[in-house]
Amino acid sequence: MAEYSNLLYSNYQGIARITLNRPKALNALNSELLSELNSLIDVIAADESVKVVILTGSGEKAFVAGADISEMQSKSAIEGRSFAKFGQQVFNKLENLPQPVIAAINGFALGGGCELAMACDIRIASVKAKFGQPEVGLGIIPGFGGTQRLPRLIGKGRAKELLFTADIINAQEAYRLGLVNNVTAPEELLSVAQAMAENIMAKAEYAVKLCKAAVNEGLDMDLDSGIAYEAEAFGICFATADQKEGMTAFVEKRKPAFTGK
Ligand code: CAA
Repeated sequence: MAEYSNLLYSNYQGIARITLNRPKALNALNSELLSELNSLIDVIAADESVKVVILTGSGEKAFVAGADISEMQSKSAIEGRSFAKFGQQVFNKLENLPQPVIAAINGFALGGGCELAMACDIRIASVKAKFGQPEVGLGIIPGFGGTQRLPRLIGKGRAKELLFTADIINAQEAYRLGLVNNVTAPEELLSVAQAMAENIMAKAEYAVKLCKAAVNEGLDMDLDSGIAYEAEAFGICFATADQKEGMTAFVEKRKPAFTGK
């Protein structure tokens, strides 16, 4: 396993944990951190022993305080575009990892940090977390998918308000808007994420992956194409041992013993 300067990584019994680890800069996303995250996502995608991923930030203050402003400050238009394209590519890859990804948001999730959380499948926030897209206050717009994922997640009107005002909102407000799935006490954040990961892991692995793919692919299609995709994916489930086991266990009134096959 490669060593990372800005990330901590572990895989314990199928639950992988990525910790963004640049605490002195509140885990701000510079090119080096993004490159490391890019490589680590490739490693996870190829590692069948990883069943669920939890993504969090180191320290008590920040999940990610955004893209690195010091690095962006002197960029030209061309460099700005390629920085955005690279960040977008990494976040798209994260969003399309076969395994489910849970963001455990421990503090500030601003700009690129909010965008990173939105590229995860499920978001759990500590009550101390804060969210926002402050870019227009810096003379830029979100560049790592925020103008696209935020309205898809919380609706056009509410997204535009957050984008235009650059307001920072607390975890409860993020919950009210549907930006996060759940809010927990800070000391319980990782155990709540872990429990959710274990809950998902107890289900049929391939079916979970197909659900993820159907949601992700379907949202980019018209409804007819999306439901056609769903029928194909539904059919594939019947080629798995876990479908046989899941349905046999139901009929036999016992718990299924899934094998991930
Ligand atoms: N980039 C680079 N460094 C950052 C940073 C960022 N996004 N956010 C924080 N830091 C650094 C600070 O410069 C500071 O470093 P020094 O100790 O060397 O001075 C350190 O982290 C601690 O930060 P603060 O002293 O500012 O901490 P605070 O508690 O007073 O404030 C904060 C916390 C409100 C999160 C504040 O740091 C802040 O506003 N950060 C910037 C948030 C932001 O605007 N993010 C969007 C970036 S643009 C973007 O992300 C574009 C995109 O879509 C791709």
